[in-house]
Amino acid sequence: MKINISPSTMLNPVPVVMVSCAGKNPENPETRPNICTVAWAGTINSEPPMVSVSIRKSRHSHDLILESQEFVINLVNKKLAKACDYCGVRSGANEDKFRKTELTPEVAPGLKYAPQIAESPVSISCKLKDIIELGSHDMFLAEVVGVSVDEKLMDDKGKICLEKAKLVAYCHGEYYSLGEMLGFFGYSVASKEALKRRMPVKKSRKSNKK
Ligand SMILES: Cc1cc2nc3c(=O)[nH]c(=O)nc-3n(C[C@H](O)[C@H](O)[C@H](O)COP(=O)(O)O)c2cc1C
Repeated sequence: MKINISPSTMLNPVPVVMVSCAGKNPENPETRPNICTVAWAGTINSEPPMVSVSIRKSRHSHDLILESQEFVINLVNKKLAKACDYCGVRSGANEDKFRKTELTPEVAPGLKYAPQIAESPVSISCKLKDIIELGSHDMFLAEVVGVSVDEKLMDDKGKICLEKAKLVAYCHGEYYSLGEMLGFFGYSVASKEALKRRMPVKKSRKSNKK
């Protein structure tokens, strides 16, 4: 039996990302490059590729994105988890979060102002298309104009092996490292050959015994 609770943002798990942004003058402390942690992020269209991030008006990053009309969504791996949390509890209005977290801003493909985070396994360059004021949050709708991927995640055929990235998910206030692969798109109807090729080999208890 399930219990009815009050309506809330119970959708879980969600990706947690580090949004990097900047105003038009990187030398000015008020508009220098910044990082903001965002859990209310999503994919919203395929052609053209579009994403959204929902950010409160009170965030310093909100002003920076409005000024430059750009931002970068940086995926978070296990190594970045602590810095990701830090960027979600301190404001760039008061400190330089790139310096504090010792992360490296670098030019993002397709963008003029917002830098990407060099240490992130995947960075997605976004150009602002629209803003929907929803209440607590403003939803920034953006077109993806570039993607850069850590070369260590590419196999020799040019396929991105994201399973190697050790990405982090956010679930009900806690960070988790992605774990067991359960299947792949269409595995419920896949051929025996495809399952054999793509499903992880399960270790039987017997074979583990010495
Ligand atoms: C896990 C996590 C998820 C967060 N998600 C969001 C979010 O989706 N939208 C938002 O406006 N703030 C979110 N925050 C809060 C901001 O990241 C936080 O207020 C940050 O200090 C804002 O930085 P800024 O003032 O430098 O922009 C989140 C914080 C954490 C720790």
